[in-house]
Amino acid sequence: MTPLERRARHADLAAQLREHDHLYYDLDEPTISDEEYDRLYRELVDLEKQYPELITPDSPTQRIGATPRTELKAAPHVAPMTSLDNTYSRQELAQFLERVARGLPEGSRPVFSIEPKLDGASIELLYRGGRFVQGITRGDGVVGEDVTDNVRTIRNLPLTIPYQNDLTLRAEVVVFRRDLIALNEERALAGEPLFANTRNLASGSLRLLDPRQVARRRLRVMVWQVLERDFAEDHASSLAKLRELRIPTHGVLELGTNVDEVMHAIDAIEAMKATLEYELDGAVVKVNTYKEQDILGRTAKFPRWAIAYKFKADRAYTRVLGISVQVGRTGVLTPVADLEPVQLAGTTVSRASLHNEDQVARLDVRIGDLVGVEKAGEIIPQIMDVKFEERPYGTEPFVLPRSCPRCGSPAEKPEGEVQIRCTNVECPARVEGSILYFSRRFAMDIDHLGAELIQKLCSLGLVRSIPDLYTLTLDDLLKIERMAEKGSTNVLRSIEASRSRTFDRLLIGLGIEHIGQVIAKQLARKVRSIDELLALHPESLTSELLGVPGIGPKMVQSLATYLADPKNRQNLERFRELHVSVPFEETAPARATEGPLLGKSFCVTGVLSRSRDEIHREIEAAGGDVHTTVKKGTTYLVAGEKVGKSKLTSAEKHGTLVIDEARLRELIEGSEEAAG
Ligand code: IVH
Repeated sequence: MTPLERRARHADLAAQLREHDHLYYDLDEPTISDEEYDRLYRELVDLEKQYPELITPDSPTQRIGATPRTELKAAPHVAPMTSLDNTYSRQELAQFLERVARGLPEGSRPVFSIEPKLDGASIELLYRGGRFVQGITRGDGVVGEDVTDNVRTIRNLPLTIPYQNDLTLRAEVVVFRRDLIALNEERALAGEPLFANTRNLASGSLRLLDPRQVARRRLRVMVWQVLERDFAEDHASSLAKLRELRIPTHGVLELGTNVDEVMHAIDAIEAMKATLEYELDGAVVKVNTYKEQDILGRTAKFPRWAIAYKFKADRAYTRVLGISVQVGRTGVLTPVADLEPVQLAGTTVSRASLHNEDQVARLDVRIGDLVGVEKAGEIIPQIMDVKFEERPYGTEPFVLPRSCPRCGSPAEKPEGEVQIRCTNVECPARVEGSILYFSRRFAMDIDHLGAELIQKLCSLGLVRSIPDLYTLTLDDLLKIERMAEKGSTNVLRSIEASRSRTFDRLLIGLGIEHIGQVIAKQLARKVRSIDELLALHPESLTSELLGVPGIGPKMVQSLATYLADPKNRQNLERFRELHVSVPFEETAPARATEGPLLGKSFCVTGVLSRSRDEIHREIEAAGGDVHTTVKKGTTYLVAGEKVGKSKLTSAEKHGTLVIDEARLRELIEGSEEAAG
């Protein structure tokens, strides 16, 4: 490449990555897979490594440049970050509207904006001369912590904008519910404590010392305030203008002039709560124009022009019938409260995790207690409080047993850990837990293999270790009570199908401590198959895995321990003999720039004769584009069996042609002209 070509390629890659960040984070319509994204990113990194002069401050690589710090520095806010007055009642809301009217000149007819109150971590963001220059946590409202390097890693926040004046923004850093679930799955695997909700995850992540870790947390920014008065006339226009600059906001804003309209908008936001990916705990009502906001000013604590209307968190009261102890895949003993069933936010709750011994002690929950239950982050029911005045006579504090409730072996609390673990590595609960984990969607994805069935398979001695799954026969399954031929065939078929998963999925499924989904994939790029894994020498693992991105000493140590255990090696050898997993392969070769499908885009859906990945590759090799959703501009929807109705509706809406697999084949083989 000539220097000119190099510069052009650099600019092109950077622009593509920025566009994909926008599609993924702002529009929730990614058009490429994570692997493809990583490939573009790596090409950019390589190019910059070879020609550092190409690096620009807003290059996507510059999001994660900074090295870990030892502490966060204090930084003053541009103006104090006050908090908001809040209410739970319509009456107080009406009083607020009246107060506002009284505080404005005679005859004013203030317009109010109503928007979600995001439940994350608040932050101040500074753009100067079109560049993002600083991010400061709320702190005590006057001085916060400088977390600029961490904020730079948040991929929905542009590092440069086409606006040169000063711009000081207030925003919430949030995490989507699905990203919390995925991260907690990874952490459970690594034996790390889980995040109780998205807010803790957002604020904890912002204050991490190593920006590279922050980058993995899938944080998002949503702006809710602009300080500069010369940016726009009022709050609503400011947020609209931010979106034009591609600065993310929450995107939900209504206007109202009286208490009925305002209340109506609040109710609409509450109704929408369950459908949104981010958490909100209320609505914020603001006087819309800056002029009126400035006239109203603020008290020592709150602005006079805004109020938060908080939604009541759904909390239900019920009795604790018992406290049972579950033993997980890693041997950890978890106390779980069995509750008298109670309705909560649309579902019946009959169990709540108590996490660990410390949590039980903190709450002092006892059998027989009346407790308040909430759904943390709308997902896991949590015990929030105990009504001590309702405690029955003669209860006793609950203590976790020091022996495993499943196998009776001693249970211990290792130094420095909060968890108590069963010491027997062959504890049936561990074996069953690891089989369940192996079959999970993100690992080997074996349908129809639930916890109950696994328990029966193990107790009948049909399965003693994971590889035994692959030698199960129809006769074996029919031995299980209530298993009929149809159900059994489905199970066998799912197990069979899992043989063709790529090696990275097998690696995840092994449940090796610290080797989660992301790391397994990195590892599989270097160690592509069972053969190659078995060929590694545990003693020289560090040097063999040197340079695999993201792999640190903890992971190497954990893998070495795993490989040093003859039982694990034997399992791997059995997987090999049983042809479980295929060597890892990078998905999709570089996109073709010519071919019969050039200029056409495809969304593939439903059950097809081959894997979706395979079909995607074929489309791209023939010059076509792959869309993961049907959207404006998608030429074809390739529909297999059991197509979801929503895909067909969007196809109709966007004028996308619906075709079957055979028709796709014809298009690829060029027997007919493709549609325009
Ligand atoms: S406006 C002058 N709007 O709630 C203060 N705040 O209790 C104006 N928050 O610290 C605040 N979503 O972290 C505003 N749409 C929103 C918000 C919001 C969340 C948070 C923010 C603030 C706290 C106030």
